[in-house]
Amino acid sequence: MATNTVRIWDPFVRIFHWLLVGAFVVAYVSEDDYLDIHTIAGYTVLTLLMLRLIWGFVGTRHARFSDFVRPPSEALDYVKESLLGRAKRYLGHNPAGGLMIVAILVSLLVTTFSGIVVLGAEEGAGPLAGVMGGVSHSVGEAMEEVHEFFANFTLGLVFVHLAGVLFESLLHRENLVRAMITGDKPALDDDSK
Ligand code: HEM
Repeated sequence: MATNTVRIWDPFVRIFHWLLVGAFVVAYVSEDDYLDIHTIAGYTVLTLLMLRLIWGFVGTRHARFSDFVRPPSEALDYVKESLLGRAKRYLGHNPAGGLMIVAILVSLLVTTFSGIVVLGAEEGAGPLAGVMGGVSHSVGEAMEEVHEFFANFTLGLVFVHLAGVLFESLLHRENLVRAMITGDKPALDDDSK
């Protein structure tokens, strides 16, 4: 019997997601030796984040923050229910996934913003060059630590994100990665939200 599908992720969300993956990977691997490429990839991440923030308010139903940002207690309950194998299926992001997405977006914002501060302080370049040009070298170095910490923190979140995607796909016997490519998911059943 053919399963009905519904459109969940609009083209913006899908293109945003896969461009973000690419830009983050390029920024991460280029950081030591290729400052030009690193900077372009970082600005790409920041531009994508800005657009996603706007889309979170004006975008389609499941792209909106109001659809998936839930209190941490709800996310925790969802994790518990998942581990017991009885969590409800969501068409959009589940409460734990939603919290993880907020964490990734915030961590990326801190990473990119601290990167721009470092660029201004250490290289005298970028939009903050005028402001950061006069600060001491030790301030620049401290910001570099912050920048590196949050880049690695984001990477850690991404690994948890991937584990969550795999776990949820197995739990509800659906291919969430394919849905992030095609935009479509099998339609609701009685246990879904
Ligand atoms: C740098 C790496 C990654 C980052 C920063 C990232 C970030 C995100 C973000 C922000 C979202 C929310 C999308 C939105 O609502 O706009 C998301 C969702 C998603 N991501 Fe990733 N992601 C990464 C890697 C991956 C990879 C490698 C895969 C799969 C191979 C993946 C699979 C998914 C899926 C399936 C969803 C939808 C989850 C759901 O169904 O609720 N992600 N990711």
